[in-house]
Amino acid sequence: MSADGIAGGPPPGARADWTIDQGWERYAPGEHRVWITLYERQAALLPGRACDPFLRGLEALDLHRTGIPDFARINEELRRLTGWTVVAVPGLVPDDVFFEHLANRRFPAGQFIRKPEQLDYLQEPDIFHDVFGHVPMLTDPIFADYMQAYGEGGLRAMRLGRLHNLARLYWYTVEFGLLDTPEGLRIYGAGIVSSRGESTYCLDDPRPDRLAFDLMRVMRTPYRIDHFQEVYFVLPSFQRLLDDTLQDFAQIYRRLESLEDLPLRGSGPAASE
Ligand SMILES: [Fe+2]
Repeated sequence: MSADGIAGGPPPGARADWTIDQGWERYAPGEHRVWITLYERQAALLPGRACDPFLRGLEALDLHRTGIPDFARINEELRRLTGWTVVAVPGLVPDDVFFEHLANRRFPAGQFIRKPEQLDYLQEPDIFHDVFGHVPMLTDPIFADYMQAYGEGGLRAMRLGRLHNLARLYWYTVEFGLLDTPEGLRIYGAGIVSSRGESTYCLDDPRPDRLAFDLMRVMRTPYRIDHFQEVYFVLPSFQRLLDDTLQDFAQIYRRLESLEDLPLRGSGPAASE
């Protein structure tokens, strides 16, 4: 995830592209236990809720219950499957740095893990959100291509002053996307699969809208980061997402200039519930 408004260069100890060594050997036993607790909770909840590509990716990368995964080991498999790698960063990185990594098939992941008292919610993405939530989908060839296209699109959107619109595409797909399948709705968004509460809320709760994916509508729909979603967008396929993202967004941004944002109805439950 990227952050607006980070000024200056990388923090001390980070490289020019904001990456750091993961330092896997330095995680404390208590930090591995946090991973195992979160992993076991979500792994029990997600069969029948998460989409097959996510569950297959989780298996393929062997993100099992032995603790925080070593990026070097994940990367051997991920590189072989789709040419992606995971790189460690100290926390949120500037937008241009984030997009540059994605455009080069590198996923920047937080190196730190939440504290035991933060199991259910923290605002800044940690290694559990970033690796458990995001990395399994990078094993899917079409989704992997979409993430690269998104990074390239991010760099263009920055030049065109339309990042606030494009960021909504990331939010409503990569973070909070649902997929329509013959077996019913399934989750692929990282913000959902890494959250115990939202993994059930998004599919079972009557309150949120679940709308068919529409690129223009997504780009006109604001979002809140501290509540469960009021609206989810449902993809018919990842190919549709990739195809939509490969069109010329400059034309879309021109159309958006004359269109208002769409209002949210109210607010869903707080994300910490
Ligand atoms: Fe994320």
